[in-house]
Amino acid sequence: MTQFEIALYPGDGIGPDVLQQAVRVMQSIGERHGIRFKFKTLDWGYEYWKEHGRVVPEGFLDEIRDVDSILLGAVGWPEDIPDHVTLAPLVQIRQAFDQYACVRPANLFPGLKSVLAGRSADDIDFIVIRENSEGEYIDNGGRFKQGTPDEVAVQTAVHTRKGVERILRFGFETARRRRGRLTMATKSNAQKYSYVMWDSILEELTPEYPDVEAERMHCDAAVMNLVRWPDQFDVIVASNLFGDLLTDLGGILGGGLGLAPSSNENPSREFPSMFEPVHGSAPDIAGLGIANPIAAILSVAMMLDHLECPAAAHDVRVAVEKALLEGAMTPDLGGHLTTIEMGDAVLASLHD
Ligand code: NAD
Ligand code: IPM
Ligand code: MN
Repeated sequence: MTQFEIALYPGDGIGPDVLQQAVRVMQSIGERHGIRFKFKTLDWGYEYWKEHGRVVPEGFLDEIRDVDSILLGAVGWPEDIPDHVTLAPLVQIRQAFDQYACVRPANLFPGLKSVLAGRSADDIDFIVIRENSEGEYIDNGGRFKQGTPDEVAVQTAVHTRKGVERILRFGFETARRRRGRLTMATKSNAQKYSYVMWDSILEELTPEYPDVEAERMHCDAAVMNLVRWPDQFDVIVASNLFGDLLTDLGGILGGGLGLAPSSNENPSREFPSMFEPVHGSAPDIAGLGIANPIAAILSVAMMLDHLECPAAAHDVRVAVEKALLEGAMTPDLGGHLTTIEMGDAVLASLHD
């Protein structure tokens, strides 16, 4: 029997609720495929902060360094703690474990209604690959003369040749396994150092992938084109911040944030990778028991792929697709199911 140790970081708001359903699915799929999961549950986040005055313990990275994967629900409780405090450990995990490839598929499941008039599952099937280790998310800057009229804030993005090259190669490899089309979203008409370097590196790499049609697009145009011509996109590679923005758009185009999974991958496998929904802690519906757990469940499928259990991953995706086709829907999709009932529906499809 294969065994994996998985760190569970439920987090805040709807995070614990959606993670609970994801764990039920893992246990069930594990039984079917001979996989045993050993869980290490982390009580970090808002509740931990109330008790200890900080959201994670000191040396928190060491507690998860040796697990096989990390599964996160969502973090953030902005009413009581500034987001940049609650969310810092998440970004630190991504960077410390060199999870440089953030993969965020956006595909509309058959039978779901698109937010875009006249579009269906055939039109919306793309993946955003977000550079996840540097760029605009580097902790690099400061505030001076804070609180005075002369206050200055400096926050400088860092783009390295190594970082850009490896994420573009990851994008090319992904495109090659899909429809062979790569769009790099930058903003080299305004940012003449960083994104012009991205453009040069794309140009250098393109001849190495003759089977991939590569193009570059300014990120503002990409946003517009994703809305008017979503069917023309296959793989989009973007910097950390642009990737963040494009994947909320991807989430809604793919049927809603309640359905959008993501991975934070360390492709060299030197460190654990982390899997999480694209969505946040959704304080507006937290505690109501109506959050859609599908994004978390599909994040489990991405984790299973990474753990080299593709048949198990496939079964999870098929079960989700089947449950949705049969009309299982939480309120965000126009239905009435609770989080637990949606979990039940996926489990029922899994057992069919
Ligand atoms: P959000 O993603 O939490 O919610 C945006 C909207 O989508 C809300 O209306 C919410 O109800 C809805 N939604 C999200 N997930 C849903 C689900 N599973 N089922 C049904 N509806 C769902 O974004 P926000 O409101 O801007 O941020 C809330 C908090 O989450 C903030 O603290 C933010 O910083 C944090 N955040 C965390 C993550 C993360 O943990 N990875 C990601 C994004 C935002
Ligand atoms: C995401 C989130 C995070 C990000 C926040 C919580 C730091 O929005 O995973 O998309 O910006 O990366
Ligand atoms: Mn985001």
